[in-house]
This record gives sequence, structure tokens and C-alpha cells, in this order.
Amino acid sequence: MNHKNQHYSTNYPDVKLKVYTISESLRRHLYIFKTATGVFSFKKIDLGTQILIEHMTIPKEASVLLDLGCGYGPIGMVLGYESPQSQIFFIDVNKRAIWCSKQNIKINLPDNRHRFTVLTGNYLEPIKKKNIKLDGIFMNPPMRKGRGEFLKLIDEILSVLKPNGFFQFVIKKKMGASYISNYIINNFQGDKYSFDILCKRSGYWVNSFRKNAN
Ligand SMILES: C[S@@+](CC[C@H](N)C(=O)[O-])C[C@H]1O[C@@H](n2cnc3c(N)ncnc32)[C@H](O)[C@@H]1O
Repeated sequence: MNHKNQHYSTNYPDVKLKVYTISESLRRHLYIFKTATGVFSFKKIDLGTQILIEHMTIPKEASVLLDLGCGYGPIGMVLGYESPQSQIFFIDVNKRAIWCSKQNIKINLPDNRHRFTVLTGNYLEPIKKKNIKLDGIFMNPPMRKGRGEFLKLIDEILSVLKPNGFFQFVIKKKMGASYISNYIINNFQGDKYSFDILCKRSGYWVNSFRKNAN
């Protein structure tokens, strides 16, 4: 694992804390982000995240959306800015990432704070505990933890999606993008589900998995 990604999936990263401020233009809007050592891709937005953000479907109507494994929160921030009627949840296991996401909401969307909920926890556990149902879940998953963990998560995702809800995620081709697509296509067949590849670019695939309404 290179230095950039060391420790980021733990509760309390043990790398010395240094806070950074970075700016990123995403979907033609400039965001300022506080990031920190021990948080994923803290020096510059990850290319996979950037490609997901460019291609993700952002509902215009009031929706309940989740940035799962939020890191310093770039995905959720764009959702919050572009879907002003929606309720946005952020979840990460890493407390430093949670701190950054909270700061970034204050910096980028200071008048909208009531619409954002930032939760520390293991994947969907905080959502299940509160019995929340979601219209959209967005993720750049921690594939370094292994495909098995992500496949288990895909099974769980369906239980927290509303009818017509979707899960959009980005995977590097080298980290098993076609394996994951085939897993979903083979295991979730029929008219209850739909699966689409929204984009293949620079070695990243952006996928959309929908739980159809009937
Ligand atoms: C590839 S990074 C993406 C971070 C951020 N969404 C971005 O795009 O910059 C994956 C994130 O998942 C988080 N993560 C890893 N295991 C997790 C778990 N069990 N529950 C919640 N988040 C987790 C990591 O801490 C990390 O922030």
C-alpha cells in the first residue's frame, strides 16, 4: 500500500495529524475541502471519485441520499449542492474523515446544515439502526479490503434502498470492475433489478444498480 492510502480505513488513523486545504472544481462548481493525513486521497481528489461525481445521477426532487465511505466528503458535498431539496447522509469508519466532512459542510454549504447528517460507523449499520430508507447510495469503495467485503455490502444495500432506489459506485478495472459487474448481473436477474455501466474512463468503471419498483 502506498503512503497516500495508509491507515485510511481505520477508526483512529495513527499517522501524525496534518490538516490540508484543497480546492476542486466539480461539475463546474468550486469546492474548498479540509483534508487530513490518514484520510483517503488527502492531497488531491482521487481520479475515480472525480469520474463518479461527473457521471452520477443526482435527483432534482427531494430525496434521501447517502455518501457511503465518505472520506472528507466530496461526493456528498456535490449531492448537497446540486440537490438542494434532499437529505444527505455521510458515513465513514474513520473519525478523522468524519471531522473533515463536518468541516466541509460548514465551509461549502453553511446555510443548509440541517439537511446533512454525518455518522461514524461500519458501512450501513448506522442507517439500519435508524431504520432509514434511501433513494440513492453513492460510493468509491475501499477495494483494498477485498472483493468479498464489497460483494457482501451489495447484498445488504438492497435492504436499505426504497423501491426505485439505486446504488452508484466506481471501481478500477484493475481492482475487479468486470468481476463485480458480472456478479451483479448473474445474481440479481429479472425485472426486479437493473444494472448499467454509466461510464468507462481512464481505467475506471462507474456502475448503477437499481432496485426496480415492482
Ligand atoms: C476509497 S475511499 C473513498 C473516500 C471518499 N468517498 C472519496 O471518494 O474521497 C473509501 C472510504 O471508505 C471508508 N471505509 C472503509 N471501511 C469502512 C467501513 N467498514 N465502514 C464505513 N466506511 C469505511 C474509508 O475510511 C474511506 O474513507
